[in-house]
Amino acid sequence: MKVLVTGGCGFIGSYVVKLLLAEGVRVVNLDKLTYAGNLANLREVERHPKYRFIRGDVCDPGAVAKAARGVDGIVHLAAETHVDRSILSPGAFVRTDMLGTYVLLEEARKQRLKFFAYVSTDEVYGSIARGKFRETDPTRPTNPYAASKLGADRLAHSYFATYGLKVVITRGSNTYGPRQFPEKLIPLTIIRALQRQPIPVYGDGRQRRDWLHAEDHARAIWRAATRGRAGETYNVSGHGERENIWMVRKILAELHAPDSLIRFVRDREGHDRRYALEDGKLRRDLGFRLSRPDIGRELRRTVRWYVDNRRWWEPVIRRNAAFKEYFKKQYGDRLRRSRS
Ligand code: NAD
Ligand code: DAU
Repeated sequence: MKVLVTGGCGFIGSYVVKLLLAEGVRVVNLDKLTYAGNLANLREVERHPKYRFIRGDVCDPGAVAKAARGVDGIVHLAAETHVDRSILSPGAFVRTDMLGTYVLLEEARKQRLKFFAYVSTDEVYGSIARGKFRETDPTRPTNPYAASKLGADRLAHSYFATYGLKVVITRGSNTYGPRQFPEKLIPLTIIRALQRQPIPVYGDGRQRRDWLHAEDHARAIWRAATRGRAGETYNVSGHGERENIWMVRKILAELHAPDSLIRFVRDREGHDRRYALEDGKLRRDLGFRLSRPDIGRELRRTVRWYVDNRRWWEPVIRRNAAFKEYFKKQYGDRLRRSRS
């Protein structure tokens, strides 16, 4: 089997590429290498005989047609993914997340591919105070990232309903593990704690997220792509619900860094308070089980990875002018007006 993976140089995409190669699948990885894409994420497999990398944009029909030549299916992860950036400048999110998905769906339709797996997110549901979201619940995205993902999620489903394309959608929860770009809560906290720099926590830090290891997220995506029913959506939960402040304190403790580094800063606009997913459908219908359910252990391993892999993250934060610029815009004023 040959599969086009988009966004394979990103965080979760790199786990998907490695999983597929380990399963004997031939992989074409189409990635634009935005600020979030990193060739180092796939260093161990770049010479693998079944692996091919194409640098290109999912919004470019020519690049997509070239990458999709002779494939059986597509696993689509490429996206702009950071909520805070979507609040600062939504345009790139609408373009890549919605238009890019349309271009890929058109290619899949033309070629009558055997499957199209769309990697969506739990953010499409919005916040839930109690209980857990089921796949059939209403969607109420609250930020431009989540809304763009939902647009693409529904467009993908429409290609099943209208054209009979075998579309399967996964809605995964907050993912963590080695190789996550250091703008997201966990790597940002680890790296700033290592440098003994202030750690920004939005609002009161009592927002809750359901943490899922990247390896399990990749396994769930592949399980859904290969065994999921056409037109169906599958929630993917890590069964790891924690308050943000719990995560931050755990990381500080692991690094023997003081809690006094924590700064409570102005909240994210439209910040969802709690995410929680009911994943019975994935477990019951597709027999999926988490292989890394122990969040305490996996968080310690993740922290260790960043400690041992400075060569991976130092270039990103030290020599990257765009990252510095983003950091200043997002946190400059927040940190100046913060409280401990
Ligand atoms: P990431 O930001 O780490 O990586 C995104 C990748 O997509 C990068 O390699 C980037 O270069 C590539 N890319 C961006 N725009 C592109 C374009 N126009 N053309 C081609 N490539 C492009 O993302 P991630 O956190 O690994 O997320 C991967 C997917 O999983 C996304 O679709 C995201 O919405 C979804 N998801 C992520 C999480 C999470 O917690 N990280 C949870 C649920 C769903
Ligand atoms: O829920 C799935 C989503 O998880 C994915 O679809 C997104 O692609 C992914 O980025 C992630 O979104 P979040 O916004 O939940 O992730 P982030 O790491 O940015 O934030 C996690 C929580 O931590 C959230 O409640 C906001 C908070 N936070 C985040 C940052 C960056 C802070 O308190 N301080 C920060 O500096």
